[in-house]
Amino acid sequence: MVESTQQAPKRLLDVTDLRKYFPIKKGFLRKQVGAIRAVDDVSFFINEGETLGLVGESGCGKTTTSRCILRAVEPTSGQIMFRSTIGEEVDVAKLPSSQLRLLRREMQMIFQDPFSSLNPRMTLLDIVGEPLTNHNIGNRSEREDRVADALKLVGLRPEFMRRFPHAFSGGQRQRIGIARALVLRPRLIVADEPVSALDVSVQAQVLNLMLDLQEELDLTYLFVAHDLSVVKHISDRVAVMYVGKMVEVATSEELFAQPKHPYTSALLSSNPQPDPRTRSERVVLQGEVANPADPPLGCYFNPRCSYATDVCRSQPPQLTEISPNHFVSCHRAEELELPGVAMAKADGIG
Ligand SMILES: Nc1ncnc2c1ncn2[C@@H]1O[C@H](COP(=O)(O)OP(=O)(O)OP(=O)(O)O)[C@@H](O)[C@H]1O
Ligand code: SF4
Ligand SMILES: [Mg+2]
Repeated sequence: MVESTQQAPKRLLDVTDLRKYFPIKKGFLRKQVGAIRAVDDVSFFINEGETLGLVGESGCGKTTTSRCILRAVEPTSGQIMFRSTIGEEVDVAKLPSSQLRLLRREMQMIFQDPFSSLNPRMTLLDIVGEPLTNHNIGNRSEREDRVADALKLVGLRPEFMRRFPHAFSGGQRQRIGIARALVLRPRLIVADEPVSALDVSVQAQVLNLMLDLQEELDLTYLFVAHDLSVVKHISDRVAVMYVGKMVEVATSEELFAQPKHPYTSALLSSNPQPDPRTRSERVVLQGEVANPADPPLGCYFNPRCSYATDVCRSQPPQLTEISPNHFVSCHRAEELELPGVAMAKADGIG
């Protein structure tokens, strides 16, 4: 990854040149005829204790990136450096599976759909306690104590542990999913669209819970969403993906107020603003999202970009730090003045 010129806080995760290509196979012999470039040269880092929001349209590779970090899918290439509890840096992408188990105690995932991600035939004790059982931690009564603690942390009563998930609402089920992710006391939580399936009225409660837990337990979050308005409030920095590529990474304030990539600016303008006075000039995204199995030459965004020039149609831009902590992958990033949105000071969650 391109080095920041500011004094760097402690990095927990540093991803460099990550790629995940899914083979496209055809015919009787299942011959490979191409590849879906789900993640195509992605670099970013996450500092200890911060939240990095990862956004982009459906299919741009957010979930695949998240799953690579946890080695739930095998990356095609790239480096995923993680600083483990003992201070040692390990490359998750190359760890032998025997060592992955230990690492999984430090990284956990929260899923999008709290209805399908919880086994309906298991009690809360078994669901939340399963990671403890899998890692042979404690005896039954110690596990019960830890499950009770995890439930309390997420605002659920420990007495609920004998019940089944169907007895709970969507928001409560997502709390169960968070309790399960926390029971091993990980340091990094990868949350893949954790509130997208919830009613708007409960989204803010879950987001606030995640913020409280972060402070209480010193958690670091990779928070995936397709909705910029969700990541705005929870993220210290935001990373924007387009067709498997990272196109912009900056602090939330800078990314919203002064986007430097035309795609970020277009996403911001298509995001409804609650206050019409802060609504920016709308830039409507023209055309279709590029096909990750057959991306265009040059910049993948060029067929939809109103600022594209000849170089954009032939040369792929590189992710470059154009000002401290602001990374952009656009040939014209330094010269373009793009519309952003104002971030009101009292713009809290809820
Ligand atoms: N197991 C798989 N096999 C083949 N292609 C896959 C697989 N998983 C994902 N893809 C493809 O990789 C691309 C990226 O998918 P991914 O699920 O990572 O996107 P996403 O940004 O999480 O999208 P969404 O917002 O819809 O969740 C898509 O084109 C998708 O169809
Ligand atoms: S590189 Fe060119 S096509 Fe791509 S976003 Fe920048 S201006 Fe648009
Ligand atoms: Mg996804």
